Amino acid sequence: MRWNARGVTSAYDSSFGYVSAQGAPLVELLDPRPGERVLDLGCGTGVLTAEVAARGARVLGIDGSPGMIEKALAQYPGLDFIIGDGHDFSVAQPYDAVLSNAALHWMSRDPDLVIGNVRDALQPGGRFVAELGGSGNCAALIAAVSTAWREYGLREPELPWFFPSPAEYASRLEKGGFAVRLLEYFDRPTSLDECPDGAADWVRLFGAPLLEGLPGDIVEPLLRRVNELAAPALRRETGWMADYVRLRFAAVRR
Ligand SMILES: C[S@@+](CC[C@H](N)C(=O)[O-])C[C@H]1O[C@@H](n2cnc3c(N)ncnc32)[C@H](O)[C@@H]1O
Repeated sequence: MRWNARGVTSAYDSSFGYVSAQGAPLVELLDPRPGERVLDLGCGTGVLTAEVAARGARVLGIDGSPGMIEKALAQYPGLDFIIGDGHDFSVAQPYDAVLSNAALHWMSRDPDLVIGNVRDALQPGGRFVAELGGSGNCAALIAAVSTAWREYGLREPELPWFFPSPAEYASRLEKGGFAVRLLEYFDRPTSLDECPDGAADWVRLFGAPLLEGLPGDIVEPLLRRVNELAAPALRRETGWMADYVRLRFAAVRR
């Protein structure tokens, strides 16, 4: 994944702090207890990791992006963070719980491998509590991108995300050795208040991989077209909304 550009990382915290802000209910669902060992997978800049630590748990944040980990360490010097890929990590001593907010949909290369690594990082009875994009997530944004790309004669963009349906993800969890205790699938239209250039800014930040390799002079007109196409569905009088659809679950390692 390509979250390691320093500029992107700081824009992430300043403009898109809502990602972690919306993770607060997840910490409630996790209900970390003092002394528990918790792993935060795809921890980003560590905001939720710190919340879990504030509840008295001993927490380790793992993220694939060196830039995110650098920032997390700078913000929370008393906490532990390491660089690691969800597809390829292991732990010396199993954890009581794994938390993951807005990160599993980026671990799209092999979701079953990620689930297997989480299972192996947990002791039997350990909790896996997470939220990720569900099927239909950002459908209007993605449709605008596809149409703009087609109009500019570009190949259909390869999307870097995995947005499973609830049935699909529950089945993966069960096959991966978890019992699913709770699974919610809901629309969460999300205001892009601090995204002055609307859908175009969303692509710049969250869809940056889509822009890789494009001729430099095409990017700005292409993103202007994305805004025109997305505006009818996503632009309100009060500003831009992203059409987020989320999957939130709590599962237990069998
Ligand atoms: C939207 S951010 C969410 C960060 C944090 N959980 C929060 O709530 O603010 C997604 C995070 O997933 C990380 N990520 C993406 N792919 C990853 C992978 N394969 N392994 C580990 N982390 C990954 C990114 O670097 C990024 O920090």
